[in-house]
Amino acid sequence: MVRLTIDGKAVEAEKGTSILYAAESVGIKIPTLCYIKDLLPDGSCRMCMVEIENKGRTKMETACNAQVAEGLVVTTNSEKVRNARRNVLDLLLSNHKTDCFSCPSNGDCKLQDLCYEYGIERTTYEGEQTELPIDDSNPFFTYNPNLCILCHRCVNTCHKLVGRGAIDTMQRGFDSKIGTPFNVDLTDTSCESCGNCVQACPTGALTMNRRKNYRKYQIDKKVLTTCPHCATGCQYYLLVKNNKIVDVEAADGPSNKGLLCVKGRSGSFDFVHSKERIKYPLIKNHETGEFERATWDEALDLVASKFLEIKRKYGSDALAGFACSRSPNEDCYMMQKLVRCAFGTNNVDNCARVCHSASVAGLAMTLGSGAMTNPIEDITKNPDVIMLVGSNPEEAHPVVGMQIRQAVQRGCKLIVVDPRDIDLAKKADIHLKLKPGTNVAFANGIMHVIIEEGLQDMDFINERTEGYERIKEIVKDYTPEKVAEICHIDADDLRKAAIMYAKADKAPIIYCLGVTEHSTGTEGVMSMSNMSMLVGKLGREGCGVNPIRG
Ligand code: FES
Repeated sequence: MVRLTIDGKAVEAEKGTSILYAAESVGIKIPTLCYIKDLLPDGSCRMCMVEIENKGRTKMETACNAQVAEGLVVTTNSEKVRNARRNVLDLLLSNHKTDCFSCPSNGDCKLQDLCYEYGIERTTYEGEQTELPIDDSNPFFTYNPNLCILCHRCVNTCHKLVGRGAIDTMQRGFDSKIGTPFNVDLTDTSCESCGNCVQACPTGALTMNRRKNYRKYQIDKKVLTTCPHCATGCQYYLLVKNNKIVDVEAADGPSNKGLLCVKGRSGSFDFVHSKERIKYPLIKNHETGEFERATWDEALDLVASKFLEIKRKYGSDALAGFACSRSPNEDCYMMQKLVRCAFGTNNVDNCARVCHSASVAGLAMTLGSGAMTNPIEDITKNPDVIMLVGSNPEEAHPVVGMQIRQAVQRGCKLIVVDPRDIDLAKKADIHLKLKPGTNVAFANGIMHVIIEEGLQDMDFINERTEGYERIKEIVKDYTPEKVAEICHIDADDLRKAAIMYAKADKAPIIYCLGVTEHSTGTEGVMSMSNMSMLVGKLGREGCGVNPIRG
């Protein structure tokens, strides 16, 4: 820890932390434009200038990337500092359009707020502003380079948080703008249209197209909710204007950390106010062939009478009920009650049968519960190796995909086990392109190598597991060469994968429908558990067996 003074306050801060962070920890706010929490500072906007006195010498530095040191005296709001910030804003406005009335971010612009706070109405620099073309090639958002201050928040978000790198700074001088490699349309890049860059933009340069329908100050309330699309459980706010949802804003939820994917940001609420939404029962008029509005009583009587008719004529087993795994427990409970008590049959099922019932059965049998053993943050934050089996999170669970890409950027090794050339396979250290349906043989091969190399965790096995001798006997025959033949993979790659997984300290197995949706799905899931139990990667941070579900 080091001791310093900020605006006359004695502050204690950990070595290596920034002055910005240290100031915030004692409630002193320093203005920023380019800074993104948790990322290495870009230091491009210069808005966070402060005066730092060190051993009798004073200089101006940017608080986001200047580090604390013993005995520093920091002044964050002197006239000199405010003048420096005024000059920064003046320079930014020298090439920034100021027709705020027509900007979709009017009232929600950090640059506008700071100019107001520092009394900057227009630039003092003379000369013509360059007019660059607007890019509206993305269906969800627009980039107007004339409103861009080149703070790189969007670029850093795309590269370091989303892990995509679809955009970067192009050209030089007044022609500088955020663009794509070789100037192709955004839709022709690896851009996922997640809109995280848009949320990061402090001005109106990047705006969601739907921003045309409202201004920030018209929002009556923000409702925190969970995204309905996949099992990542991203948290976001629905923004409500005049009792209508008009936009989505990412929240800092435990599994999404302020990120959203295209589904969450751009496909989560339009159906609520859709004109095509069915709001009352419809019964088909058999003469006209058209559906006509009916009362609930009419509709329920009709449906009940038809069910009764079938039951009387053909018996109870002529009926069945099929529930949806997205329905709440209470609805599913009532559904089976209806089928069992009123229909009089056990013909009741739900769609999870073809998704993760194998996880429920396989994990309940091996570990006691059919769910992820570790939280998403835990398996993506700091793992050494990720074993990704039969899963394409970039499409099915994109915010998990983003966090896996972040982990790989931080140096985590990635083993992809998938017949498909999924995009994450490009980042993988090893890609085992199994023949579909051979997951159990693959896992047996991994366990064979682990035991052969003496990498099993005997303490964990003895204290926490049963049946080790049996599994050892079973996998004895699954040599890498034999498994290579069954799975159509390379024996050496299998060996390398087994050793890489076993030797890592933190190594989660993440799997999805590529393991479960087989006639041997339950055995496939049990094999995932067996692999992790063999090396004691259970009940620990950054490890476990993790089905990412529907
Ligand atoms: Fe420090 Fe931009 S916030 S330089």
